[in-house]
Amino acid sequence: AETGHQTITDYEFPFEGPFGTYDQTQLQRGLKVYSQVCAGCHGLKFVPIRTLSDDGGPGFSEEQAKAFASEMEVYRLNEDIGEYEYRTADVTDNFPEVTAAGAPDLSLMAKARAGFHGPLNLGINQLLRGTGGPEYIASLMTSYTGEEMEQAGTILYENTAFPGGWISMAPPLYGDDVEFDDGAPSDIESEAKDVAAFLMWTAEPKLAARKQMGFIAVIMLAVLSVLLYLTNKRIWAPVK
Ligand code: HEM
Repeated sequence: AETGHQTITDYEFPFEGPFGTYDQTQLQRGLKVYSQVCAGCHGLKFVPIRTLSDDGGPGFSEEQAKAFASEMEVYRLNEDIGEYEYRTADVTDNFPEVTAAGAPDLSLMAKARAGFHGPLNLGINQLLRGTGGPEYIASLMTSYTGEEMEQAGTILYENTAFPGGWISMAPPLYGDDVEFDDGAPSDIESEAKDVAAFLMWTAEPKLAARKQMGFIAVIMLAVLSVLLYLTNKRIWAPVK
């Protein structure tokens, strides 16, 4: 792929670094952008609605998660009559799958895409700056040039973050597309960062728990190293 020409902005996110965690209010804002803008074309079929009230997520109460579910519809194909049946979503359902527009599911997108590459396929950029999935998604939202072309009946939009430079997704965000409950800014970059953070959470909901476990493991290994060092000294003391 022509990834060499991508320009990805290294946006800052609160979940970066060894001690970074999700910002609950940012996840709530990102959920709002997703629901009001992206969900028209993109599904989140691997994300259970009930996880909105899990620890480390957007921090909904169970009642809020239920209320949120009751505003959504899910559907399934009834094979007997060959028709789709719709019903109000329950909190135990996943977010709906959306395939109509041919847009990919976004559940795992923040992990499926990389923003940083190289140099020379060595991956040193990823080591220093992270894989860059959320940076890629945020950059994708803000990197439309305004140029369009038609190819085989499809309109393509020039986007300097997209590998290859031309994407079939029309610019989804223009700024002030949603009004945030916490009064946070809704310029295009803020919206892009918030939705990218939310999609990072959908792709890795247990990020905080994983980092905490890793930290404990490092401490235990450090203690073990000291004990092994002292044991080693003692065992060999008579020989020296
Ligand atoms: C592709 C994000 C809204 C239609 C994508 C991709 C991402 C994305 C990350 C994958 C790009 C890749 O393959 O690397 C978003 C976000 C949205 C949004 C965050 C809301 C802010 C929409 C809307 C539509 C749409 C409203 C339909 C009108 C598509 C299509 C593709 C796509 C058709 C496939 C593009 C291609 O491969 O050329 N989107 N999207 N998206 N999106 Fe969206």
